[in-house]
Parts: sequence; structure tokens; C-alpha cells
Amino acid sequence: MYHLLYPLRTYLIVSGHGEEANVMAADWVTVLSHKPIMLGVAVSPRRYTHKLISRYREFVVSVPDLDMLKDVWIAGTKSTPAKLREMRITLVPSTKIETPSIKEALANLECRVVDARDYGDHTWFVGKLVGATYREEAFPGGVPDVRKADFLAHSAWTEFVTFEKKIHRSE
Ligand SMILES: Cc1cc2nc3c(=O)[nH]c(=O)nc-3n(C[C@H](O)[C@H](O)[C@H](O)COP(=O)(O)O)c2cc1C
Repeated sequence: MYHLLYPLRTYLIVSGHGEEANVMAADWVTVLSHKPIMLGVAVSPRRYTHKLISRYREFVVSVPDLDMLKDVWIAGTKSTPAKLREMRITLVPSTKIETPSIKEALANLECRVVDARDYGDHTWFVGKLVGATYREEAFPGGVPDVRKADFLAHSAWTEFVTFEKKIHRSE
């Protein structure tokens, strides 16, 4: 029934340090606080990512575009850092934490874990934003422009969508 809330944006969660760095796909990501900025992500204990976030208490939320869909699918269907050999992404140093960012992503939000709580079959990791990088062309002035980048959203199962290249104003 949770698909009734879809389409939802899809993100890549980077975890781990050095050779151990791993990437998984995640739809269940949200903003929790403005000051300070805090993000939440629901990660099943069955994911290798869960082990890495629990160990290093850090994660990066990377924002992929439609061009990265093949990599998103690998990240979301295969387990452990071995999958990175099949992916075309480049891991680069983050600005404030040891967990790397993804060079090809539209944005990378660097978080330090401040809380972790189990809800049903997932753990809700809460991270405080400590650093961020983004592509100026996708986020001119720090806000998204759907006409400049193909932001990725998940519709259901193997189906993904992007936004129409048009802005509708509320007034
Ligand atoms: C589009 C998409 C979204 C996903 N969202 C989540 C999510 O929000 N939370 C989660 O625990 N798993 C999610 N998954 C499943 C994990 O990405 C998948 O199990 C992955 O293989 C875990 O990798 P790991 O074991 O290397 O950490 C999603 C998968 C896909 C394809």
C-alpha cells in the first residue's frame, strides 16, 4: 500500500570509508529539521549499508539524475561494495566527512548520524547535515531547476519518471 504515496524521489546512499565504501538506492529519505538541517533515511537491517552506517555513524545522500538510472538500479538490486565494479560512478572525497560523495550526482549531502531507531522492519537513521556540494546548473542559487536537470523519481517496481520541463506557479 505504500506505493499510494509514489512517485517518490530516488536517492543514492553512500556509506563506509575507503575500499569499504558502498552505495545503495533509497526512496525513503526525508528532511526532518530546518535549523539545524537534519535528514532521515529508512534502511533495512538486511542491507550491507546498514552495517556501514551503524559502524561509521555517517552517510551521504546523493541526488542522481535520469542518466544515472542504470547505476541506481545496480545500487538498488545488488549488495556489498563489489557492485561498484559494475557501476560507472566515481567516488570522490566529501568536504566534511570520511564517507565519499559521488562525482556524477547532481548533489551530495553529507550527514553525521545523531540517532538510529527501529520502526517495523527498517531502521530510521537521522543525520545532521554537515556539508554539501551541488551542480550549480541543476540548482541555480541552491534551488532546483527542473528545466536544467532530469531529477529522478521512482514510480513503482522497475518504473522511473522525471519531471516535465515546465514550472507551474501557485500565484
Ligand atoms: C529504487 C529503489 C529504492 C530503494 N529504497 C530503499 C530504501 O529506502 N530503504 C532500503 O532499506 N532499501 C531500499 N532499496 C533496496 C536497496 O537499495 C537494496 O536492497 C540494495 O541492494 C542494498 O544494497 P547493500 O546491501 O549493498 O546496502 C531500494 C531499491 C531500489 C531499486
